[in-house]
Amino acid sequence: MRRPVIAGNWKMYKTQADTRAFFERFLPLVASSTHCDIVVAPPFTALAAAVGAARGSTVTVAAQDGFWEKEGAFTGQVSMGMIVETGCKGVIIGHSERRQFFGETNETVNKKLKAALAAGLRPIVCVGETLAEREMNLTHAVLEKQFEGAFVSLTGDEFSRILLAYEPVWAIGTGRTATAEMAADSHRYLRELAQKRFTSERASALRILYGGSVKPDNIRGLMAQVEIDGALVGGASLDAQSFASIVNF
Ligand code: PGA
Repeated sequence: MRRPVIAGNWKMYKTQADTRAFFERFLPLVASSTHCDIVVAPPFTALAAAVGAARGSTVTVAAQDGFWEKEGAFTGQVSMGMIVETGCKGVIIGHSERRQFFGETNETVNKKLKAALAAGLRPIVCVGETLAEREMNLTHAVLEKQFEGAFVSLTGDEFSRILLAYEPVWAIGTGRTATAEMAADSHRYLRELAQKRFTSERASALRILYGGSVKPDNIRGLMAQVEIDGALVGGASLDAQSFASIVNF
């Protein structure tokens, strides 16, 4: 049995004060939720506040991105080591918004992934096709390219420390969720890729999260699929009550 993971990606929302207020409401609602790993990914400026507010709970904090160099003249970047210093345990890498708006490529995803692993962070690596790609029947081809690109020269041991998130771009923030079957098909395909590239043991231990308009009213259907090991939640993770309902699916 793979342990479920419910992760919230706050994107560019919430100040430090908002973050503390969120945890004050959220933690009592998940105090007895021991059935899954709970992760919250606030913006960089609120990481330390989130770590402080989550202390003593089972909730861990992740960053939404990180750079591969340790330090240097890279204005605006934050290194994986700096993220670790805030008390974060994980980092999201290759989110489609970074690929779309900030020039993230499979190569940069691979570099960031290796830096994150070297720093001891648990990476949540995101992959997923656009609507045009799905309509042209390219979903599997795109997933394969992103999978192979992200995991270039990764060892099996390193691979066992990552979480994979399947996020069809057309379902993010649009209110359009992939049907549970559609998501499960992509998850199955990703697991096949993991088996080919690594081993069947590693593939069956891999936790694959679904992301894209996950809400309190569709989480159960998604989690009922054996292939779906959790969720990466954007909009619905901003409200303590709604995120707690998702955690307590
Ligand atoms: P959404 O975002 O839940 O708001 O669609 C998901 C994500 O981008 O991770």
